[in-house]
Amino acid sequence: MYTFVTIATLIGSCVAHDKPHVVFIVADDLGWNDVGFHGSNQIRTPNIDALAYSGTILHNYYVLPICTPSRSALMTGIHPIHTGMQHKVLYAGEPWGLPLHLKILPQYLKEDGYKTHAVGKWHLGHFKSEYTPEMRGFDSHFGYWSGRQDYYDHTAQEVNMWGYDMRRGMNVSWESYDHYTTDLITDESIELIKSHDSDNPLFLYVAHLAVHSANSYRFLEAPADIIKKFDYIKDKNRKIFAAMLWKMDESIGKIVDVLDQKGMLNNTIIIFTSDNGGPAAGFNNNAASNWPLRGVKDTLWEGGVRGNAFIWSRKIPVSKVNNELMHILDWLPTILAAVNSSSLEKEKPNFDGHNMWPVLTGEKYNEYNEILLNIDQLRNISALRKGEWKIISGEIYDGRWDKWYGPSGRNTGYLYNITDIENSLVAIALKRNHIEFPSSQNIYEIRKNISVICRAESQVKSCNLKNDICLFNVVKDPCEMVNEAENKKQILKDLIKSLRNYVPVTPLNKPIDPRSNPKYWNYTWTNWMDYV
Ligand SMILES: *[C@@H]1O[C@H](CO)[C@@H](O)[C@H](O)[C@H]1NC(C)=O
Ligand SMILES: *[C@@H]1O[C@H](CO)[C@@H](O)[C@H](O)[C@H]1NC(C)=O
Ligand SMILES: *[C@@H]1O[C@H](CO)[C@@H](O)[C@H](O)[C@H]1NC(C)=O
Ligand SMILES: *[C@@H]1O[C@H](CO)[C@@H](O)[C@H](O)[C@H]1NC(C)=O
Repeated sequence: MYTFVTIATLIGSCVAHDKPHVVFIVADDLGWNDVGFHGSNQIRTPNIDALAYSGTILHNYYVLPICTPSRSALMTGIHPIHTGMQHKVLYAGEPWGLPLHLKILPQYLKEDGYKTHAVGKWHLGHFKSEYTPEMRGFDSHFGYWSGRQDYYDHTAQEVNMWGYDMRRGMNVSWESYDHYTTDLITDESIELIKSHDSDNPLFLYVAHLAVHSANSYRFLEAPADIIKKFDYIKDKNRKIFAAMLWKMDESIGKIVDVLDQKGMLNNTIIIFTSDNGGPAAGFNNNAASNWPLRGVKDTLWEGGVRGNAFIWSRKIPVSKVNNELMHILDWLPTILAAVNSSSLEKEKPNFDGHNMWPVLTGEKYNEYNEILLNIDQLRNISALRKGEWKIISGEIYDGRWDKWYGPSGRNTGYLYNITDIENSLVAIALKRNHIEFPSSQNIYEIRKNISVICRAESQVKSCNLKNDICLFNVVKDPCEMVNEAENKKQILKDLIKSLRNYVPVTPLNKPIDPRSNPKYWNYTWTNWMDYV
């Protein structure tokens, strides 16, 4: 009997040991045109680019247009219209969060033997302690609960309230004060990887603050010596933004480097995604770029919902551009499939997301062709992509963010530099492992293939979201310049019909509770409903 148990335990731990580690990196408010691999020559992102080019780039990948909905989709695999998370972000003083009956990604992975750690932003509820990461399947969390913070003093200012928001588990991390948030996130990630007991598989969720803007007294912040590197960028905000992004890129390089040092890289799946489109041209007081895509964060134009993403793993094709439709909802079932989780088959019917693992590994073509981009019934806006087509309906911000915003980054600054990429921490780690790395010719080819080409200005057919539902062929017209609603009536009808199949639940948003005010809680954001 005893012997039997021992053997079973041995086999058990052996199976667990074979499961891949998963490192999931989320960039906050990163625009389509901010990363080098999408064609901009303005900001160096050599580590991100090296991983993207040596993995699979997801070229038709969508996210929700803002933070809270996107993160809820990622964590549950269920569309925000079905969980009540579809309307606006969660403000730090609001008493609601991602409903507790929903099982989330780290909870699934724990059942498969994973050690689960979250670093950085949460933004899915903290008014009661049960809503915070360590109560929802993460073995540890170091970071902040609200939507964003100052990069040095770690306070979050919301409406007329202001308080410190940096936590180690449930404890306030006062010692973080005056350290740059991106460095704190990087150092914590490195420490977690270094001290990881390799008997277990690791799930590390790295949710960066970069490149979100901070509080009103200093929206954009980066170390002075890094800002200096970008002196060739004339626009002051864009220059600081570049330095913020550079720090996040460095962070990814360091994480890959330590995965290699620890001997884990070969068995790790690395996923990178943005949470929503970039706040360009001063939106949210930030300086991202989605060029040449239309619109910004919080709009349902491609600039708001077409995300940056790639996946890297030894099991994923090298230097590939995957053109299949994919959505942030798909990561949960996809990860469960990638790690051969016992929950996938059982839980599949509960997910709105699809298992894309066989599509990513190249075994299969995609079986779905429709993505609900969002329905926000309180703002009367919605959009859906089906095949090559997309409908978008409802005006917000009085149409003020419906245009195309730069910078294009095509003729400025420096020449795109392959040497930068080849000398990045990522490239060095891959080469140390004799892992295939693309040639410079390969890199230029991929970069050219995924450049977004707009239709000619002369073809523009305008779209008035105040009164009309607009229709675009986003494959031929990725910049949404030619509204085809007039001459493609049947397609328009078909997409409207598809959209009507989705019935959103009532959004869960609640007004701010003045009792949350940090001034009552030692100037910290806290789980005030635990105490009142
Ligand atoms: C929180 O603080 C308590 C009391 O100082 C300490 O015992 C505990 O280890 C801390 N928890 C974490 C996660 O640091
Ligand atoms: C790394 O992974 C590849 C593919 O999964 C495998 O063929 C190779 O033997 C592994 N190398 C090491 C050093 O574990
Ligand atoms: C996946 O897990 C099942 C048990 O849940 C096991 O029988 C099977 O061999 C595993 N497959 C792979 C490819 O590891
Ligand atoms: C919502 O939008 C549709 C289509 O743009 C429009 O016809 C309708 O009048 C709007 N309803 C409200 C309540 O604004």
